[in-house]
Amino acid sequence: MKRANLQLDEHGRLRHLLTIEGLKRQQIIAILDAAESFISVGDQQVRKVPLLRGKTVVNLFFEASTRTLTTFELAAKRLSADVLKININTSATVKGESLLDMLRNLEAMQCDMFIVRHGDSGAAHLIAQHVAPHISVLNAGDGRHAHPTQALLDMFTIRRHKGEFAPLTVAIVGDVMHSRVARSQIHALTTLGISDLRVVAPKTLIPTQVENLGVHIYHDMKEGLRNADVVIMLRLQKERMQGALLPSEQEYFQDYGLTEEKLQVAKDDAIVMHPGPINRGVEIDSEVADGPRSVILEQVSNGIAVRMAVMSMVLGRAPIETGGEGEA
Ligand code: CP
Repeated sequence: MKRANLQLDEHGRLRHLLTIEGLKRQQIIAILDAAESFISVGDQQVRKVPLLRGKTVVNLFFEASTRTLTTFELAAKRLSADVLKININTSATVKGESLLDMLRNLEAMQCDMFIVRHGDSGAAHLIAQHVAPHISVLNAGDGRHAHPTQALLDMFTIRRHKGEFAPLTVAIVGDVMHSRVARSQIHALTTLGISDLRVVAPKTLIPTQVENLGVHIYHDMKEGLRNADVVIMLRLQKERMQGALLPSEQEYFQDYGLTEEKLQVAKDDAIVMHPGPINRGVEIDSEVADGPRSVILEQVSNGIAVRMAVMSMVLGRAPIETGGEGEA
């Protein structure tokens, strides 16, 4: 079975969300449209809808997280699901229980969804291959591979500010090499038909053959930002780097840190994004991160509605169209 196909059921509907790769444009649009309908739930006096009442969602985070973990939990609670967070450090895995045995036990407790963050690429796929047929798995970030809900909330944020994707110029700047977010964003933006997608980074932080994914490579920051509608900054992921890929953080900031001065070459109405966590003074200056063009905290808020949309689709099994183009 191809990896991307694993996330669709036999009717072409979303059962798991493991990667953006393989999703069709209309499937991504359907998720963004559903998220739009959930935004208002956050403004209600009682921030709840009963869509997932009686369902049990389990957060399985083997790696640190602030935004993804909490917004998944908030999303599940706003959909009225019961939510469990397994503390990996105090779970029986420290006594030698295997991951798959732990999952079998959670299945025996009638859980319906596993939300998985793991340091190993492919972990969510592996789990999805082994769960019972009624269980859905959502990838909350696996190694360098994918972070699909982050990319979806980024697409949602871009659409809210810019409308159509086709005419846009988007620059993704920084540690593309180690970034699961960048990989998922590139798949989402190319699937949505963007006209000019750029990655901007030193040679040591550009993955080989990334141009085959439909991006233009820039090593000069100002060239890469020129006339951009959207600037997406990435954190240096030192925890995934092997060896010295950069001279120093100061020099990196000099060449690739986003400052107001460098941002001048982007369009006047360009927005600045960052998936977080941000490292001020390393990849972004505080003046920009907290400035009028920054939508960084808006991305976090939008994450709740987007995750509500994904969870309700996979658990409610709401149909999302395959567009008659066959299996993704
Ligand atoms: N963007 C993101 O994944 O942030 P966390 O690591 O805090 O979840």
